[in-house]
Amino acid sequence: MSSLPTTQQVALGAGASIALYWLWNYLNTWNRAPYPPGPVPLPLLGNILDMPTTLLPVGFADFGKKYGPLTFIQVPGSKILVINSYEAASDLLDKRGSLYADRPRMVMMGELVGVEGGTPLKHYGHGWKLQRKFLRQALSANAIRNNYAELLHRNWTQYLMGALNDPENLLTDLSRMLGKTVIEFAYGRDHDAEGNDYLERLRHVQQLIAKVTFGYVVDLAPFLKHLPSWLPGMKFKRDAAGWKAETDETRNLLFSQAIKDSDDSEADAQPSYTVNALNEFRASGQEVSETDDTMEAIKQSGFSFYAAGAETTDSTFRSFLLAMTLYPEVQAAAHAEIDRVIGRDRMPTFEDRSNTPYITALIQESLRWNPAGPIGVPHRLIEDDVYEGYFIPKGTTVFPSIWYAGISRNPKYYTDPSSFKPERFLEGAEPVLDPRQFVFGFGRRICPGNELAIQSVWIGMALTLWAFEIKPVGDDPALHSDLGRFTLDSVR
Ligand code: HEM
Repeated sequence: MSSLPTTQQVALGAGASIALYWLWNYLNTWNRAPYPPGPVPLPLLGNILDMPTTLLPVGFADFGKKYGPLTFIQVPGSKILVINSYEAASDLLDKRGSLYADRPRMVMMGELVGVEGGTPLKHYGHGWKLQRKFLRQALSANAIRNNYAELLHRNWTQYLMGALNDPENLLTDLSRMLGKTVIEFAYGRDHDAEGNDYLERLRHVQQLIAKVTFGYVVDLAPFLKHLPSWLPGMKFKRDAAGWKAETDETRNLLFSQAIKDSDDSEADAQPSYTVNALNEFRASGQEVSETDDTMEAIKQSGFSFYAAGAETTDSTFRSFLLAMTLYPEVQAAAHAEIDRVIGRDRMPTFEDRSNTPYITALIQESLRWNPAGPIGVPHRLIEDDVYEGYFIPKGTTVFPSIWYAGISRNPKYYTDPSSFKPERFLEGAEPVLDPRQFVFGFGRRICPGNELAIQSVWIGMALTLWAFEIKPVGDDPALHSDLGRFTLDSVR
């Protein structure tokens, strides 16, 4: 007698599972508000087939067009809320900030490769609060103006001098300079006496992180991380162990040098976030021990600068350069302001900032037109919540979809949203939503580097416009549509 089930038995078993699934779902939901709208989940698979397969920001914005400000998606292991409206994002993430202040679990990147201790992925709690305390002090507008204006001015000037001699590498040099700037800001140096090039090391770590952000089954089935790495199919665990070792080594190397620099008042390092924080720690009379919570907070937050601050500032400045090629009349207006306020006999300095409303509007429009983080960084809901009659369960991963139809290109907030028009932010214009209220994120997790970014971009724009006229080389039709620009490497 065969022990294999018959087709009828299989069909019966499958039917019973589906019925049980629906019953379980029903019992779970009968006495509470419904989930926000979204595609109907399939048994077991949930909405996995509804997830965008290529560009997440475009797919998320499309959800907004179909389901409105809130879209609820269920995939195995996660519940996801996509927010496509400024009001809803601010109501939930700003006004109920403490409820939405956690980060979702990222098993491959966070736990196995080990970057979950850094500020952007750190779970809400004591360690994260300590990191934010140091960041808040060091990254205030005044602290940047007083301690780092010279660094920003010098690096931007050197970059633009280089651009005169080697315009072909304008964009690669821009990324290098901005990377080097946040590294110098974090550590006071970009290499050590042993010849370690910090930029090369951090770029390598960043490439590893990019590789492990999406696409690993262990993020859907976290129990896999406990299986032995010699088992077939566990290559991801062996890879992760190697990548973790490389990441840890770089983090330790940079931090040990910062400790040496803080020990040695004669060291050749410039003032920096990590060394200043270490000095402050010593000044409070405490022993420098690498196992201390505060030391860990300084180490991890300093190490977050490159990952969080280099590409984002780069992307914003590239949007500005692109806009200058596509909108010569905007560039002419900016040149006119530079000529009027600064003239040709001296270079712009930070002292000029308050007299340049057009450049400030250029920054706002560059941030709005192509936000560096089109779906922000996801938050995680700490307790069950109810909003506008919808139930949002504890543990939900929340994405603010700030680009495209969500907020920054939504005609509800901006007329003619695809056009680059700094005038919309000038005094006397109809008041509009300031993009600084959403491109830097929301609530307790709001970007602590926003002032550094804005001051860096301001001096970069002022010096570039003072020294150059920016013109396009050829024309790519893709540059004339929102989606075309979005998918071009030169923009992002
Ligand atoms: C134009 C440039 C920048 C943009 C558009 C940007 C945007 C963002 C966004 C959207 C977030 C997530 C906020 C949230 O979860 O709601 C974030 C977090 C963060 N940013 Fe920035 N950022 C920029 C520059 C910088 C710079 C220069 C630094 C340097 C220190 C920096 C450091 C951080 C850190 C450490 C976090 C993690 C905060 C946390 O999770 O508590 N950012 N940024």
